[in-house]
Formats: sequence, C-alpha cells, structure tokens
Amino acid sequence: MEVIIKPNPEEVSREAAGLFRRQLRRKPDSVLGLATGSTPVELYRKLVAMVRCGEVSFAHATCFNLDEYAGLPADHPRSYACFMREHLFSHIRVAQWFIPDGLAKDVATHCEEYEYRIRDCGGIDLQLLGIGSDGHIGFNEPGSSLASRTRIKTLTARTVADNARFFDSAEAVPRHVITMGVGTIMEARHCLVLATGESKAAAVAAMVEGPVTASVPASALQMHPVCTLVVDEAAAKLLQRTEYYRWVYDNKPSWQRP
Ligand code: PGA
Repeated sequence: MEVIIKPNPEEVSREAAGLFRRQLRRKPDSVLGLATGSTPVELYRKLVAMVRCGEVSFAHATCFNLDEYAGLPADHPRSYACFMREHLFSHIRVAQWFIPDGLAKDVATHCEEYEYRIRDCGGIDLQLLGIGSDGHIGFNEPGSSLASRTRIKTLTARTVADNARFFDSAEAVPRHVITMGVGTIMEARHCLVLATGESKAAAVAAMVEGPVTASVPASALQMHPVCTLVVDEAAAKLLQRTEYYRWVYDNKPSWQRP
C-alpha cells in the first residue's frame, strides 16, 4: 500500500484530483467507483473545476457509487444520489452513472444486478473510498465478510452517530444501507482511500499497520495490489512508519507521479 501524507485536507484533495486526471487521460472511458461523505467534497469541487477548464473529461466515463441508504428515494435530499448530483453530476457530463436504488423492492436481485453491471462495464478502474471512524469502507461495518458482495447492511450505532450531522437527528438516519461488498471493492484495479482529521487516525493506523481482520474492513486493502492512501497529518498521527512513507513518496520516480 502506498501511503501519502499531505499537510492538510486541501492537499489531500489536490493529490486525489491529480490521480483522477491521470486515470481519465490514460483511459477516457474509465470505470470509476465513487464515494460520498464529507471527505470527497473538495475533490469533487476540484474535478468540476478541471472539467470546466477542459483539463479533464468524464464524457466517456462510467461511474458506480459505493452505497445508498435503504428506504430513501433518489430525490430525497439526504440520499447519496442527491449528494452526487449536488456535488458532481449536475455540473459535468458523464457517459453513465449508477448508484444502488434505495427503494429496490427485491434487494437481493437488485444487488446481483449491480454486481453484474460493474462486470459488464469491464470492472472498476479506480475506486475512491473514505474510511469510517470504525474502520468501514463503503458501508462494510466491522465484522463484514472480507469476501462480501453488494448487499444490504445494518449500520453500527457509531456510524449512525457519525452521519447524524447530515440529518435533523440521529433518529432520522436510516439503519440500513445497500453497499458494495469488501470483495467487490477489492476487484477494482486501483483503490484510492482518502482520510482527513484526527477522528480518523485510529482507523487509519489499524487499516495500514494492524492485522488484516474483518474487525477493520479497511485492513483488507493490505491485500490489494494497487492501493493508494492519501491522508493529512492529523489522520496520519497514529501511524508508526511515517518516515518511511515520506521517504518513498520523496523518492518516487517521475513516471509514477500523477
Ligand atoms: P466521511 O465518511 O467522509 O464523511 O468522514 C467516510 C466514510 O464513512 O466512509
């Protein structure tokens, strides 16, 4: 796993935007996996700006979102479909974009179809991920099978509390979600995890330097052949090998840079 430590959240987003630009320039019809939450908001703002000035285009790209709240319609202001339109898709042109349907009647079939569609599009080239303070990726909470596929999950009380800021109260946060599984995420060709702020420091340390365990679903990424983690100083605070991570980054050959 490559660990890139940046001084602040702004620089984390800049690095991530550079990786998206490189991906889309190399392969304009890339299949991109996208995430929601607070962390990627500034990245999306940068990508919209890049599209507007012609630096990059999503016009031939296909996007798949990681997850959606079960029970929320796509036009609900707190749905992730709405989040994505607000922060990205109402501002740029994209060839295709998919997100799990929070109102799917037959959830199991819907999840199977979502997996099929990802495969049918050739698989995900670059998967963007946040990390929960409990170590989740997507909404794969601690204890999720590391081989899991897209399915319905129950949120932990901690995630409900973490996400209450987007709702009027914790009671209003849906308890269930449809999420890509850890196994689905692991099939992406390149995983890009972003984490900022001290509240993520313990989860980041467990993900990178702890054992691979379903108790920290993000730790499965230690088994991924091409995973980049970009963190700010606050989120890197509990990492042990920071000197080495910085050394690797400073000595990175120019052809490997975005
Ligand atoms: P956040 O969420 O970006 O809002 O911190 C990350 C996550 O829960 O995966």
